[in-house]
Formats: sequence, structure tokens, C-alpha cells
Amino acid sequence: MLGFGTVGTGAFRMLHDNKKAIEDKIGLPVEVVRIGVKDLGKDRIAPSDLFTDDLWSIVDDPSIDVVVELIGGTDPACSLVERAIQNGKHVVTANKEMMAKFGSRLVQSAKDGKLDLHYEAAVGGGIPLIQPLKHQLAGNDVLQMMGILNGTTNYILTAMQQEGRGFEEVLKEAQAKGYAEADPTNDVDGFDTMYKISILASIAFGKQVPIESVYREGIRKVTKTDMAYAEILGYRIKLLGIVDAVSSESIRVRVHPTLIKKDHQLAHVNGVFNALWLRGDFVGDLMFSGRGAGSDPTASAVVGDLIDVGRNISANGQGSAIPYGTGMVTEPIDSLVSPFYLRLLVSDRPMVLSVIATAFGENRVSLAAMEMKALDEGLGEIVFLTHPCRESDFQTALKQIGEQDVVDTVANWFRVHDSK
Ligand code: NDP
Ligand code: HSE
Repeated sequence: MLGFGTVGTGAFRMLHDNKKAIEDKIGLPVEVVRIGVKDLGKDRIAPSDLFTDDLWSIVDDPSIDVVVELIGGTDPACSLVERAIQNGKHVVTANKEMMAKFGSRLVQSAKDGKLDLHYEAAVGGGIPLIQPLKHQLAGNDVLQMMGILNGTTNYILTAMQQEGRGFEEVLKEAQAKGYAEADPTNDVDGFDTMYKISILASIAFGKQVPIESVYREGIRKVTKTDMAYAEILGYRIKLLGIVDAVSSESIRVRVHPTLIKKDHQLAHVNGVFNALWLRGDFVGDLMFSGRGAGSDPTASAVVGDLIDVGRNISANGQGSAIPYGTGMVTEPIDSLVSPFYLRLLVSDRPMVLSVIATAFGENRVSLAAMEMKALDEGLGEIVFLTHPCRESDFQTALKQIGEQDVVDTVANWFRVHDSK
């Protein structure tokens, strides 16, 4: 094992507690023979003679069959995994960043070496997502996937929605409780979801999705006011990773806060829970949900992968790495067709609506719903929901609207999931 933190400790405990059942399923003994960590001074739940801070000695040890990488990040994790594969070892990893950035190359190396490289825990923690996409659902053309793939942001958004509290306040509480990290950027600004949705899209569409082609926004701009308007209009706001099949050759991958109808299954995935909703041409609509992080659920996925590797070894298999190629064609956000939510602060006087309506109309944006109320100091607040329109048209209308004298502030806007 490389790494013995939250996930490593859980995986070790599971291998210890369920040893007999696991070995019966594999048909071979499983033994953790070496554990690589950074700090040899920490108290650990495993015998101290297993530990080393020389991780290269593990990936170079000819007596080891499988390396389980649970360090995280790309350096030194990626070099260690590459060396393990070069040395003929199967690999299990939970590392979303490494797989999102270098997955195509690593899986191909494993395939070339007739080895396994499994990474079920990298997306959705304990929820089986990657194996079903690779196997049971592989015959489908995936038409759309939408995931709540980050527990920290879902916890924050759920608390904001259910308790009417602001982003900063809930973030601080989540940090104090240890749900959010001291530097929350990776979660709050959507990087974690970007890694995860790019891995899922790469598997579903058979080519690596470069993370640079994923449109990304985080949740910092979500306010309790927008949460309240979304509720009135019949929606919840969730951070979604979304993959749309645009044509037979191209997809669009995006991460942003999204208004989703309250009666959609994803709207009911709350707190730290994760979920993936998927529409396939033959399977129809389905959703997986469960615990997307934490020591035990993530260990469940890691040990499941290890059992797969063990069965393969036990059957004298040739490895079952399923490579995906490169050259994925992705569409930019500008050509997205989506409904939008817009909240404006305006002067509370005649002609305001007609000025705004003209800007929408001139840019082919049609309105579907509206809420308004008078605020203090001669201001009014107006919320619009549009019919589906092109992102570029909405953005042009938005710019035009923001330049009008009667418009005090463009307070916020979001994309809305088109429930058709
Ligand atoms: P932790 O930070 O809890 O543990 C990391 C482990 O790696 C520690 O044992 C640490 O050593 C060791 N380590 C880190 N850097 C080095 C280094 N340079 N050399 C040697 N050892 C090093 O991470 P997690 O267990 O939370 O995460 C592990 C992986 O699992 C990551 O890829 C993460 O994204 C993924 N994951 C995590 C989930 C979770 O709920 N935590 C959920 C799903 C996936 P030491 O103990 O000495 O500090
Ligand atoms: N930071 C992640 C989350 C957990 O909040 O969901 C690891 O994937």
C-alpha cells in the first residue's frame, strides 16, 4: 500500500476484518506486506514493521503482486504507479486527479503489460460507477450524465437550502466540523467535480476528456437569496458535473451550479451524499447514489477492486484494463442550449420591464417565468427564467441588460437543467 491516511486505513481495516470472506472470494491469500507513508513517527493501526518511507522500495519489490495507491495528487503518485506497472504489478488507485490527467496513458501501459489498473474509488467513493459504465452499461449510447460528485459542496448547498444560511457561514461550519478542508478550493471551485466527471465521460465515450476542455464554475456565487427564489420557482440549486452527447462525434462536459426541478431524483440527493444520473439509449434513465467519500465507503470500493485483481490473478488472467484513447471532440460552452435563471436589481419605475424584455427579444431569448418584488430605496428585484436558448445569446442579452440605466445590478445568473 502506498499511503495510509483516511482511505488507506479504512482499506487495511476492511482487509483485516473481512479477511476470510475476501480470501474465499478470491481463492488466494491476501497479505499487506508493506505500507509506504511520509511520516514514520505517526501512530498507526497496522504493525509498525510494515511501514517504510521509501515508497520506491515497494514498487520495485519483486515479491509484491499488487500496489494500492492511496497517496493522492500527481507527484509522486503518478511516477510510482508508472514504475509499478513497468515492474509488472497490478494497480488499484483512488486517485481522481491522477486518473483525470494521465488516465489514458496509465491504463494503456497496464493493458500493454497485461495488467489490471482499477480506480473505482476515484469517483463517487463507495458507489459503484466506473465498473457499471465499463461493463453493464457499455452497450448503450450514453445520451446524458449528470452527477453530484462532491460531498463537501453538496453538504454546503443542502445546508444553505434547508436552513436559509449563507455560503460563507456554512463553509466555516463545514471546515470546523472537518467536512471541508482548510483550503476549500479543490471542492468549492469545482476542480474535484471536474476531475470526476472527466473520468466518467472518458469511460462512457471511450476517449480521454482533457480537463482543459471541461467548462468549470464552483459554488461561491450561490447566495441564500437565489436559493429562496429557486425554491419559489420549483427548483433546487446543485453543483452538477454534466456530460451531454452533442452529436455522434462530440460531447460537452461542464461543471456549474445548476437549477434542477424539485421532482428530479438528483434534487433529493442531500448532504454529503453523491449520485450519478444517466440516460442511455437502451437502458433509459437510472441513478446511482450513496456515500461518495469517507474512510469506510471508499475502502469498500478499493477492496472491491482488489478482489477483482485477485480473481484475475487466481484465474491466471491477462489483466482487464480497459483503455480509452485520445482525440475526444468536445464542444465549447457558448453553443450550449439551456434555460437560464437571472436575478436583477432594477430601478422601481415605469418602462423597466419593457427595456429588459427588448434586450432579451433582440437576442432570441424567450421568457418562461418571472418573480418580482419591491425592495427599499426605490429598487426592485426581478427574477427571470428563460426558455432554452443559446448560451452566447443569453450572455449577449445579459451584457446589454447590465448596461441599461434602469438596471442597478445584475445580481446573479445560473443555468437551469432542461427537464425535457
Ligand atoms: P490522506 O491525506 O488522508 O492520506 C494520504 C496518505 O499518503 C498518508 O498516509 C500520507 O502519509 C501519504 N503520503 C502523502 N504524500 C506522500 C509522499 N510524498 N510520500 C509518501 N507518502 C505520502 O488522503 P486520503 O486517504 O483522504 O486520500 C487518498 C486518495 O484517495 C486520494 O487520491 C483521494 O483523492 C482519494 N479519495 C479520498 C476520499 C476520502 O474520503 N478521503 C474519497 C475518495 C477518494 P502520512 O500518513 O505519513 O502523512
Ligand atoms: N473532497 C471530496 C468530496 C471527497 O468532498 O466529495 C473525495 O472525493
